[in-house]
Amino acid sequence: MGLGGHSRLILERIGPEGRLLGIDRDDVALGVARERLGPAALLRRGDFRDLAAIAREAGVDRVDGVLLDLGVSSPQLDDAARGFSFRNDGPLDMRMDRRSPLTAERVVNGLRERELAAIIRQLGEERWAARIAQFVVARRPLRTTRDLAAAVEAAVPRGAWPRDIHPATRTFQAVRMHVNDELGSLDAGLRGAMEILSESGRLVVIAFHSLEGAAVKRFLALESRDCVCPPRQPVCTCGHRAALRVLTGKPLRPDPEEIAANPRSRSARLRAAERI
Ligand SMILES: C[S@@+](CC[C@H](N)C(=O)[O-])C[C@H]1O[C@@H](n2cnc3c(N)ncnc32)[C@H](O)[C@@H]1O
Repeated sequence: MGLGGHSRLILERIGPEGRLLGIDRDDVALGVARERLGPAALLRRGDFRDLAAIAREAGVDRVDGVLLDLGVSSPQLDDAARGFSFRNDGPLDMRMDRRSPLTAERVVNGLRERELAAIIRQLGEERWAARIAQFVVARRPLRTTRDLAAAVEAAVPRGAWPRDIHPATRTFQAVRMHVNDELGSLDAGLRGAMEILSESGRLVVIAFHSLEGAAVKRFLALESRDCVCPPRQPVCTCGHRAALRVLTGKPLRPDPEEIAANPRSRSARLRAAERI
């Protein structure tokens, strides 16, 4: 749901007969969306990993479309108190759902150096992960987003700082993804979508970085194939049947005008498929 930008446009198109169920695990976002959209949208606080159950509880058995717009929203990034941003100093929080017990502060100060390095390497695709983890551990306790950014800046040699992004970008992404178990939610959310999509219904996913994009691509490739047995196996034993037809060969990207109007859209990649 976020702030309801997509939902407002969807509501316009589905008209008064249509129904829209919006889910977000961030209560602040839902509050804003509720104000903007009024009673036309059914809004639920929750994780889209529970998509099918949330829909059922809301009295929705089948849907004609599912849109997953992943990641964080601009207000989450811009509000220093939410602790997502290395630009604005704030507490190390990064929780989309503020009821969740796992904060970035617990991750950064609580994990063993090796575990922290693995998270930064895998979820941040950061090649300096081991050194960053070492610097973080040496500076404990870290309390603010500035503390974490400064540890990364000290760990990565100047000559190796990326040219187009802040050196802490990948580390922040990794910690955020871990705090919110973003890949776990995505996986479960995609499966949940399959449970409730009606025939010819459409699944649309907007991803913002390569790990998410790769997970979506893998899922769509798998669900659009009949047999998923290993290629060398002579006879099919899996019995898997294609349940989707992929509509986007290559993912759609924002055009230059959209990027100019909304620079944060530059990394968005949209993939779509139809339920068969
Ligand atoms: C990019 S924003 C969505 C913006 C929205 N499409 C709009 O038009 O305003 C992503 C939103 O998804 C929410 N979100 C991310 N992962 C979630 C999950 N697993 N379950 C529920 N909400 C999630 C975030 O809290 C954030 O508000």
